[in-house]
Amino acid sequence: ESEAQWHWRCLPIEAVHRGLLPFELDHLGAVLPSAQHKVLYRHPIREPDNEPPRPFRGGHRWDAEHVRLPCAAESKYPVEAEDGTSDIESRWGMIKRALLRPIGNSKQLEAAILSYNSTYKNQWSFCALHKLFNDELDDSESCVFFEDLLPRIIRLALRLPELIKAPIPLLKQNHTAALSLTQEQISCLLANAFLCTFPRRNTLKRKSEYSNFPDINFNRLYQAGGSAVLEKLKCIFHYFRRVCPTERDASNVPTGCLTFMRISGKPEDEVNWHTSSAVLASIPMHINAGGTIEDQGIGLLQVDFANKFLGGGVLGHGCVQEEIRFVICPELLISKLFTECLLSTEALLMVGSERFSNYTGYARSFVWAGNHEDRTPYDKSRRRHTAIVAIDALRFDQQMQAHQYREDLILRELNKASIGFRHWLSTPPPGVATGNWGCGAFGGDPHLKALIQIMVCAHHGRPLAYYTFGNRQLRDDLHVLWQLFRAHGTTVHQLYNVLRPFKKAGAGKTLYTFVLESLKVLHNHQDQVQPIAAD
Ligand code: AR6
Repeated sequence: ESEAQWHWRCLPIEAVHRGLLPFELDHLGAVLPSAQHKVLYRHPIREPDNEPPRPFRGGHRWDAEHVRLPCAAESKYPVEAEDGTSDIESRWGMIKRALLRPIGNSKQLEAAILSYNSTYKNQWSFCALHKLFNDELDDSESCVFFEDLLPRIIRLALRLPELIKAPIPLLKQNHTAALSLTQEQISCLLANAFLCTFPRRNTLKRKSEYSNFPDINFNRLYQAGGSAVLEKLKCIFHYFRRVCPTERDASNVPTGCLTFMRISGKPEDEVNWHTSSAVLASIPMHINAGGTIEDQGIGLLQVDFANKFLGGGVLGHGCVQEEIRFVICPELLISKLFTECLLSTEALLMVGSERFSNYTGYARSFVWAGNHEDRTPYDKSRRRHTAIVAIDALRFDQQMQAHQYREDLILRELNKASIGFRHWLSTPPPGVATGNWGCGAFGGDPHLKALIQIMVCAHHGRPLAYYTFGNRQLRDDLHVLWQLFRAHGTTVHQLYNVLRPFKKAGAGKTLYTFVLESLKVLHNHQDQVQPIAAD
């Protein structure tokens, strides 16, 4: 018996796959361009599997609804001449000039980046970048970076006008909309982010055009402190090593596609949790104290414990679940370019990302652990069969912890997870792979969040694989509750009605004890009134 098997409770993972192979159920329908789904490559794809799909030519926009590209003719920047006079110049011209000059060390890279971001000359620091090259990497590694990798990243970045030929819509609040891009297009956009070329994305002013969007230029990462930052940079370098063509050979360029779909819940599709009669134990459930969402959740809908600003602190010093996922699968980072911060009834579904790196450790002990060969098959739209849904939990700081049991806040979390876990196709939905959502950096109670996610999965008929990240107590407590749910046919609304009074009546008890006792009372009563209990 392997250790991983020994760690689980309830049902084996195969039950969560519904007895099918992991990739037999679809997460999203095939890519179909429409007003709500912009496709940035030529559809249908005619290129053979080993060639990236070609960009779709769809005109150009420079407005508040689309990403402002650094290569747009409208993108200008003030330059100061030596005599103190200043002029307005094409930003792309400045970028090209700065990046085509020889860059042999991190100081010169800093100078190049600052030459087209001169407003931030005295604000940005590149200490993490300098530390990486001075103290962390040895001379030959640094040399390879400046002689080989950086020129490749720069060449890829400068192909922006050739690779993106249609406007990239912003995925804005209150609109359900999707966007598909090729892995090659994403690599080019990320090369630009790496070189900090995106205009209007640097100001920290509160009411600026992009203040509701995540950061995208990588400069914040170059100045963040701590060893995890260096390891995150190694993940990103590794990604570029894998995807940037060399001067002579483009056979390493990935040829797949990704879809990003913002899902905006409408009031009319809100679930009525008071009345949901879904039976909790009707969905297969697997609880495991070992394993992770990304390693064990193959074929399932994998949850990103997100920040409403996608990626959270990935371009700063953050290094927990979301940040780690975004650096081992860097294509997810591109969501930060176009996804306005999520509202309480919104989620972002990301389909098709490839994993490039392995890692060990977590948070401060996070370490890049080399290449990852992703063997996930492609779906019929040439996307990797990996679906990740970003849902942001509420944050409860130390003094606020008791608030999480408030009914309105429980409802908010139920509805947030519900938006993320809803299924879009008529075929049975794949299961959900999740864990202690909102219970690390955001301070939530794992017992409560687990019950919330069980209710949502049961309501939507989605099997559940729950990874407790080493928490055996939680695993065993949930197992006990699950056995009780199964014995009595406990429904979503029954559990909801038991959770509701906990804040007021639960004094001195843990949520687990309170729920267990209340359900026993409820079901005893039910059995007396109705001696033949439901299965
Ligand atoms: N697989 C399964 N469980 C995990 C994994 C994994 N790979 N990694 C961590 N856990 P956290 P939050 C467990 O703190 O509280 C980020 O900055 C582990 O028990 O990442 O929702 C975001 O950008 C961990 O304590 O999520 C947000 O700003 C718990 O999941 C913020 O953190 C929660 O992981 C979200 O914080």
